[in-house]
Amino acid sequence: MMAQALPKPALRPYLPADTPMLAAIFAAAIQDLTGDDYSEAQQDAWAAVADDEQKFGKKLAGEVTLIATLQNSPVGFASLRGNDHIDMLYVHPSVAGQGVGAMLCDALEKLAGGRGANKLIVDASDNALEFFKKRGYVAQQRNSVTVNGEWLANTTMQKTLAGGDKT
Ligand SMILES: CC(C)(COP(=O)(O)OP(=O)(O)OC[C@H]1O[C@@H](n2cnc3c(N)ncnc32)[C@H](O)[C@@H]1OP(=O)(O)O)[C@@H](O)C(=O)NCCC(=O)NCCS
Repeated sequence: MMAQALPKPALRPYLPADTPMLAAIFAAAIQDLTGDDYSEAQQDAWAAVADDEQKFGKKLAGEVTLIATLQNSPVGFASLRGNDHIDMLYVHPSVAGQGVGAMLCDALEKLAGGRGANKLIVDASDNALEFFKKRGYVAQQRNSVTVNGEWLANTTMQKTLAGGDKT
């Protein structure tokens, strides 16, 4: 019998019809992947950001949102706000640790560089600090933000992009 190659993730742009699926990935990623760093109350408040799907869809459509798919099903997404801010990066827990987040982040870095940005900034959640550190992002400052009535800490991190507009 021939060995079957593992399916490779692919990228495509966000479409409005993806909103419910991305809301589900958002909530699942928060519930399953952030529990070491945030309390249940914090996770619930954070995940509830996608409860209003119309509002969540507007946010996705207002940024450059890319979707990672496996066999045509969305498994993660990332969004670029303006030229140089990563706003969202979420990977479904069932495929976490398989390079999907790295692929999405790579794509945003190329996109930002292509738009002339010389740096990329992210307010990284505590669980994502190592992920971004590995990719060359450097911590700038700690922040505390309120989300649906809960205080959540994050860290602003910055990466210098090679080949960007240095002016
Ligand atoms: C952060 C997140 C997007 C990473 O996605 P992922 O697909 O699991 O990441 P990858 O498999 O591409 O990992 C890339 C590298 O980072 C490392 N990494 C990923 N998550 C990590 C973690 N929590 N702690 C330490 N290292 C981590 C991987 O081991 C891998 O290292 P390698 O290149 O040496 O193999 C995902 O865990 C997630 O959705 N988290 C919850 C939501 C969140 O916090 N998003 C960030 C908002 S700013």
